[in-house]
Amino acid sequence: MKVLLVGSGGREHALAWKIRQSPLLTRLVVAPGNPGVAALAETADVKVTDVAGLTALAREMAADLVVIGPEAALEAGLADALAALGVACFGPTRAAARLETSKGFTKAFARRHDVPTADYGEFSDAATAKGALDRFTPPYVIKADGIAAGKGVVIAETRAAAEQAIDDMLGGQFGAAGARLVIEAFMTGEEASVFALCDGKTARLFGAAQDHKRVGDGDTGPNTGGMGAYSPAPVMTDERLAFVERRMIDATVAGMGAEGAPYCGVLYAGVMVTPEGPKLVEYNARFGDPECQVLMLRLASDLLPYLLACAEGRLADMPPLEWRDETALCVVVAAPGYPEAPATGSRIRGADADFGPAVTVFHAGTRRDATGDLQAAGGRVLNVCARDPDVAEARRLAYAAVDAIDWPEGFCRRDIAWRALTR
Ligand code: GLY
Repeated sequence: MKVLLVGSGGREHALAWKIRQSPLLTRLVVAPGNPGVAALAETADVKVTDVAGLTALAREMAADLVVIGPEAALEAGLADALAALGVACFGPTRAAARLETSKGFTKAFARRHDVPTADYGEFSDAATAKGALDRFTPPYVIKADGIAAGKGVVIAETRAAAEQAIDDMLGGQFGAAGARLVIEAFMTGEEASVFALCDGKTARLFGAAQDHKRVGDGDTGPNTGGMGAYSPAPVMTDERLAFVERRMIDATVAGMGAEGAPYCGVLYAGVMVTPEGPKLVEYNARFGDPECQVLMLRLASDLLPYLLACAEGRLADMPPLEWRDETALCVVVAAPGYPEAPATGSRIRGADADFGPAVTVFHAGTRRDATGDLQAAGGRVLNVCARDPDVAEARRLAYAAVDAIDWPEGFCRRDIAWRALTR
């Protein structure tokens, strides 16, 4: 099978690493990829939002399947363009990806299909939005409708701060993404990420993970794209997973089909385990990053036939997925200044050393300089991952590898998986 994988982060390095192991694979091209990906696949210098360039590449290589990693490619309409050409694609159309690209769409959809979630209101006018704060109690949750580089959610402790956030968002802080906003009731509990493969008609649970969104140990400091993850997540018991599958995943796939936007790809439910049970925080239309990395390490089955089955609407015919009975854990090593202003260009040595069979290092934001040396090229730079039947040992292995990599400028959280270890 000839596969085109779209994306350049740690998520796509992990997908390429897993797809590369498939006996069905004959050629793997990753666009644009990164130096880690380049060690195991061909790379093509085409941007993830260059729909014309990516469709031309898919045709040129006669791709049997295109796998889309990031939401930017979904929002740009890559899946739609590939469908028009008859190229099989793992990833939702722009209409189906509204589950991620529009918070207002998702909240209204959840209400229509009885998906458990927090009470909300949607607004495009500041005075009406401020008046509606009467219906909510602090802390106020204010979300820009569209994608705002992960910065579109404000948890405001006071009414004044909530009103300021409303003014900022509707005043153009996030451009078109903030032309509408959602105010939501604050949910308490523990958050987890639940994944499902979907083929437009049916869904198959694809594991759960827990992310670490704050930059600092003990969940302190500003939000990030995720400083680490581990899977499985003990908070997601079989009973809670079954509830999420029935009331969120299955209800959503059925609802999207009924509304004329069948959902194909991976559906990522951000779930809050509240005292009243699991509730939907948000959907994403892609694998989580770094959650994907730990899922790929745990997955024992060949991934490729499942991705193709999703693209071809045959998921119901596939055998059950098999998983290693281990915890996989990922430590994100970031550039100084992340998330506000990451400093790029510092030199990294030893990231590609052999750390043993239980440790895998994925590249997230790296580049090579003219002499071939590895440099930091983004905020989240390396994903140092390990797996072991014992979560404490997986963590020990991952941090031993972090400490062996020679990159004095990089930093990481030192408490990944603390919830699993203190349960
Ligand atoms: N790790 C969170 C996300 O991928 O959105």
